[in-house]
Amino acid sequence: MSRAMELAPLRCERCGERPGGPAWRCPRCGGPLEFDEPGSPAGPAAPRLAPPPPGRFRWPWEASIWRWEPLLPEVPAEARVTLGEGATPLVPLAGEAEGGEAPEAEGGGIWLKLDFLQPSGSFKDRGAAFLVSYLKAQGVREVRDDSSGNAGVALAAYAARAGMRCHVFVPSASSEGKLAQLRLLGATVHRLDGGRDAARAAAQAEEAAGFYASHNWHPAFLAGLTTLGYELAEEVASLLAPGQRWHAVLPAGHGSLVLALGRAWRRLGRGRAAAAPAAAPAPAPVLWAVQAEGDAPLARALEEGLPEPTEEILAAPRRPTAAEGIAGARPVRGREVLEHLRRSGGGVVTVTEEELAAALLRLLGQGLLVEPTAAAALAGALRLRREGRVAAGEPVVAVLTGSGLKAPAALERLLAGDRPGEGRPGGAGPGGERT
Ligand SMILES: Cc1ncc(COP(=O)(O)O)c(C=O)c1O
Repeated sequence: MSRAMELAPLRCERCGERPGGPAWRCPRCGGPLEFDEPGSPAGPAAPRLAPPPPGRFRWPWEASIWRWEPLLPEVPAEARVTLGEGATPLVPLAGEAEGGEAPEAEGGGIWLKLDFLQPSGSFKDRGAAFLVSYLKAQGVREVRDDSSGNAGVALAAYAARAGMRCHVFVPSASSEGKLAQLRLLGATVHRLDGGRDAARAAAQAEEAAGFYASHNWHPAFLAGLTTLGYELAEEVASLLAPGQRWHAVLPAGHGSLVLALGRAWRRLGRGRAAAAPAAAPAPAPVLWAVQAEGDAPLARALEEGLPEPTEEILAAPRRPTAAEGIAGARPVRGREVLEHLRRSGGGVVTVTEEELAAALLRLLGQGLLVEPTAAAALAGALRLRREGRVAAGEPVVAVLTGSGLKAPAALERLLAGDRPGEGRPGGAGPGGERT
């Protein structure tokens, strides 16, 4: 099934430079790197659209992101690393009766993509699996990243699987639970005085601690996340009436999920021109980013009609939120995130801490133990419905991104009425970005 393949090259978005070896940003101008798009003059041939038909279980290609190999940038088979990530369930939200309305017909309601059901407990495993594979093909043996949350844990897990050494730079205030996870997975934890900015600066400077495998910078991480889009393209197709729209609601700090879904349908669109699909994928969704009301730079940039969040917006004070995974971000590809949102007909939906807690409670009440950042997706979906920005009957998929098993104490505090920034730790404060 797999092509005899070379490693897909990277190129700089801004100046066109092609780095000769492992690089996390352009060695010439510092811009973000990208893969060539299929069908573009420099890119590979348009990919085959349909994945291999499901059949007998064949490890590992049918139980991991590698099921979507024809749609991913090339990585030689011998470098591919997997822990069985992806292939997560899509289930309807139970008890859809809102404000006395009748429950919506099946298929017309809110659907939950359980993307926290992954080896290390978050959607980041898709990205880490592909990034570590790509770097393994480049001969990288040691990686570093800055994170105090899910991305660091995902990188540590996949680095362990690949036999790479892993260093994670974390802010001093990181939760003991997350630090323990990192250590248990064999990562060396570098704890920095100061907040998220200090951890990022140290990780970028510390060249002796391996290659900077930044989940926010490296396009291979985003390529792994596009598999969420391919899965949804297949699953949602059967929910839709002909010509019907559907919506994807995504917690967003840097906006990697918006980029992932936007890029997935861009690639599907290119593929469609050259290959007949075995089964038609769902059309591209209307994309909605969810941010906390007190920490919403993407929302502000969109409201003000800006191409991307300005330095003034990013530097403005932010209020603490229990949705720590989407707090305090400075998006690397903010312009592209806003472009996908605008072009899809969607935008940013902001949610209050009360809405977050209510959504979390509702999910817990139906057996779904997620972290507050994941509950933001449901809070956003419910608000979009209430405000009529999503029409009744149009399916909505809320992506639940992180497991509550990582931080049960923080969940209990939130539901007991403690709000972050009110005396106890719990959420990221201004500048306390966590990814
Ligand atoms: C559980 C969870 N959801 C969503 C996000 C947001 O990801 P991004 O910053 O790429 O938008 C994160 C980031 O850490 C996260 O941990």
